[in-house]
Amino acid sequence: MRRAKDSVTAAIRDLSIADYDDLVRLWQEANLPYRPHGRDSREAIARQMEGNTSLFLGAEQDGKLVGAVLGTHDGRKGWINRLAVHPAHRRRGIGQALVCAVEARLQAMGIEIIGALIEDWNDDSMAFFARLGYVAHSDILYFSKRRSPKA
Ligand SMILES: CC(C)(COP(=O)(O)OP(=O)(O)OC[C@H]1O[C@@H](n2cnc3c(N)ncnc32)[C@H](O)[C@@H]1OP(=O)(O)O)[C@@H](O)C(=O)NCCC(=O)NCCS
Repeated sequence: MRRAKDSVTAAIRDLSIADYDDLVRLWQEANLPYRPHGRDSREAIARQMEGNTSLFLGAEQDGKLVGAVLGTHDGRKGWINRLAVHPAHRRRGIGQALVCAVEARLQAMGIEIIGALIEDWNDDSMAFFARLGYVAHSDILYFSKRRSPKA
């Protein structure tokens, strides 16, 4: 795999709740849907950041948050969530640098399987994860149970 072209200039760092407004702006700019009253609210994100099952990492370039990812684990498997790179900064290796950083952190915790849920229309994301060595399981359907539609 080629070296991340721009990762030398995009510093990867842990995010804190002080980054919340920039994070939401990035999600909006990257066209990633978010639930302002559910699990993406400021209170919910602060709670996730305080726990020990979530890693919020950001990629910063020239003082601006240009990429972010949430890594989670349940003690058994790890998950890549909410990966977003600003449209003006794509195809420079920032997404790859973020995922590699989450993988390294999860692997250091003993997590050996890392997954990502990708909507079937998201060709860019599928191509990205395939390039990073993730294998698609087309025989698995995602079932979920929600306490409310806004969860
Ligand atoms: C998916 C996403 C995070 C990729 O971020 P990125 O910083 O552009 O990715 P990288 O530059 O690290 O790409 C690494 C490799 O993945 C592949 N890849 C990335 N984007 C691709 C695309 N749109 N089409 C085909 N391949 C792609 C390429 O092989 C690329 O290497 P190359 O540029 O040398 O060809 C970005 O497109 C994004 O934010 N999309 C919108 C939000 C989203 O869908 N998130 C994922 C939710 S599951």
